[in-house]
Amino acid sequence: MQKIEIPKLYKQYFIDKSDERKELFKKINDLYKPQNCIYPGSFVHISPSFYIRKMTYIDADKRISSFFNNEAVLDYIKLNKIYDGPPSINAFQADYTSNLPINESAFDIMFSFYAGFISQSCKKYLKDMGLLVCNNSHGDASIAYTDQDYELIAVVKRYGDKFNITDKDLDDYFIKKDGTAIDIEKVLNEMRGENFIKKGYAYIFKITKIPE
Ligand SMILES: C[S@@+](CC[C@H](N)C(=O)[O-])C[C@H]1O[C@@H](n2cnc3c(N)ncnc32)[C@H](O)[C@@H]1O
Repeated sequence: MQKIEIPKLYKQYFIDKSDERKELFKKINDLYKPQNCIYPGSFVHISPSFYIRKMTYIDADKRISSFFNNEAVLDYIKLNKIYDGPPSINAFQADYTSNLPINESAFDIMFSFYAGFISQSCKKYLKDMGLLVCNNSHGDASIAYTDQDYELIAVVKRYGDKFNITDKDLDDYFIKKDGTAIDIEKVLNEMRGENFIKKGYAYIFKITKIPE
């Protein structure tokens, strides 16, 4: 029987660091049943493909081309996937702020984790009513929260490998200890999320696109 290897970079950066976040993507899939997802700044974080069949990964890191071109990566995804049918993976090395060879308004979920202001640069790729799942490490959740196109609909709580998604008490989030408003300029300049009294691991926003 063919032995399926764990892809080296995925092991090094995600498994060995106990940071696969598999349950997060499982719960997102169970709740929202996305059909077509985009993950700018993904690096080699392939865990979404275990639950969501159609994924687009984009990263500026040169290593991602050879990573995704390796048949062993697809084999590993096939081994771990929970859905019927073959995984659909579109992955390419690019700066997500540049013009990307993908259709606008094509995706029903976009992920933004630790990789800058994806909520802004890649907003055009989300469908109307599409979802942004975003953390605040670089301040992207703060920027999305202050952006009228996005509405906070849920918060992700993390307990190690376990994740909960809640829509309770959403008004309690994004409140600063000193009571002042989010300083957008400061967040954009420093690329760091401000400190809020009540925090989630990540936040889920729904986008409403006003026709131009
Ligand atoms: C800290 S890693 C996070 C990887 C993954 N999102 C995660 O949650 O573990 C940040 C990644 O974002 C990528 N990145 C940052 N800015 C980018 C940009 N403008 N275009 C494409 N990739 C970018 C980096 O190359 C890097 O691989």
